Amino acid sequence: MIQARRGARCYATPQQVMKTRWRRLSPAWDALGRANAFGAVLTRADGELGSWQCDEFFATGVADAERFVADLTALAPTVSRARVLDFGCGVGRVTHALAAYFGEAVGVDVAASMIERARALDPERRCSFVLNHARDLTCFESGAFTVVYSRLVLQHIRPALVRRYVPELVRVLAPGGVLMFQLPDAIGVDPERGAPFLRRLKRLVPWSVVVGWRLLKCRLSGPTEVSQMTMFGLPAADVLALIAGAGGRVLDVRADDSHGCDRVRGFEYWVTR
Ligand SMILES: C[S@@+](CC[C@H](N)C(=O)[O-])C[C@H]1O[C@@H](n2cnc3c(N)ncnc32)[C@H](O)[C@@H]1O
Repeated sequence: MIQARRGARCYATPQQVMKTRWRRLSPAWDALGRANAFGAVLTRADGELGSWQCDEFFATGVADAERFVADLTALAPTVSRARVLDFGCGVGRVTHALAAYFGEAVGVDVAASMIERARALDPERRCSFVLNHARDLTCFESGAFTVVYSRLVLQHIRPALVRRYVPELVRVLAPGGVLMFQLPDAIGVDPERGAPFLRRLKRLVPWSVVVGWRLLKCRLSGPTEVSQMTMFGLPAADVLALIAGAGGRVLDVRADDSHGCDRVRGFEYWVTR
């Protein structure tokens, strides 16, 4: 089961993040991948970020893949398992496990450090890992994957970019294939995060004020993403419109709390085309 990201902290120094932040799409992830890739990808259940054992870390990916494939089989028993895409694969925590179920498993990520680590951790080359700095998925042909999976990724991407990626995730899906992605439904911040004073303040003021402040900060922060650990989201109605606009058909929308914030609803979107 995926651990909630509540209390997640930055392992790259502020200098590392700031130095690289404005150059490329989400360069902070690259800095984090170099500083502490496992900790940046997943917060431990005990809240510790730095002390993952490799086996223990990948066991969480096996559990996530198992759960995903069970849900996939229940929802679309006849879907082809020829080729799966793991969008925002990180170090391949789940991609490696998905390779056991699919003919071909491909992971794509924006951070070179994550992709390098994913490849190094896959000496038998059971998966392929693709580095993609583009704000779309034109590195893949339309209909290239029979199954597309993405978790703990879109929630860290600014809404304007999510609006570009969701149609792309539908586009790379083969007709009759299944896409599943997870996303909180409102732009928000984890009330458990930040300095103690800010945490108290976030609990006291109406949630709409917190969200409004987040939106304003987003607007003011310029064209690139703010930081990888910042939480974003998109209202479910907007996500459904994006899916429909891209020619996708919703199979199911399920409540999901992997973003780890009780005050913001989250969903798994299951889509076909
Ligand atoms: C919290 S990690 C989750 C990794 C993986 N999905 C997992 O569950 O183990 C988020 C990942 O999303 C990647 N990411 C962020 N923005 C991205 C983008 N625009 N395109 C592809 N990957 C992105 C980051 O580099 C990072 O590896």
